Amino acid sequence: MLIGLFDSGVGGLTVLAACRRALPGARYLYLDDCANCPYGGRTGEEITALACDCADVLIRAGCDAVVIACNTATAAAASVIRARYPDKTVLGIEPAVKPALAAVKGRVLLLATPATAALRRYGSRVIVGAEPRLAEEIERAYGDPEALRALASATLAKYSGYSAVVTGCSHYAHLIPYIPCPVFDGADGVARLLASKFAGRPSAEAEAQ
Ligand code: DGL
Repeated sequence: MLIGLFDSGVGGLTVLAACRRALPGARYLYLDDCANCPYGGRTGEEITALACDCADVLIRAGCDAVVIACNTATAAAASVIRARYPDKTVLGIEPAVKPALAAVKGRVLLLATPATAALRRYGSRVIVGAEPRLAEEIERAYGDPEALRALASATLAKYSGYSAVVTGCSHYAHLIPYIPCPVFDGADGVARLLASKFAGRPSAEAEAQ
């Protein structure tokens, strides 16, 4: 069983890690569309076209399932990709706003790309932080803990009055170790869903024999 994931960059690696924990027997193929990063400031049509190209590459490579490891591409293109590949499992990642609101009293800070932030009204308990450059800055800081720590504190310093953070872009999950309050990320949710769909299928080792 081969699971394909894609994102505009290193963000989806956090989703890949969660999927590997939840479904360790599968093989994984990760497509990093860094040539077109960032997705978050593009129009819905542009994001959909890029996301479909990524899904096409993964399906042509033989993937049994596609995980859209990007909140921005999920919102723009999940339904289009599902319609394009009706016989494949296509999963996407969404901001974990509901679990955050259920778990904490008070307000939560949703950090997201402008495309994801503009998607819907989140209600009065959600402070929406649209971050036009943060994904790109995380691309540059990836692998440098001090730079990631500095990005996390500079970002959080812009907002107040929240008791938890929702990482609404998979790139932002790389900041989680440096966020000093509860954080709700969507990666484990999509990984659990993947595991529930494929648990019991032959493992990569069994397929190789
Ligand atoms: N990692 C992506 C997301 O989850 C997109 C970042 C970007 O390219 O703007 O939204």
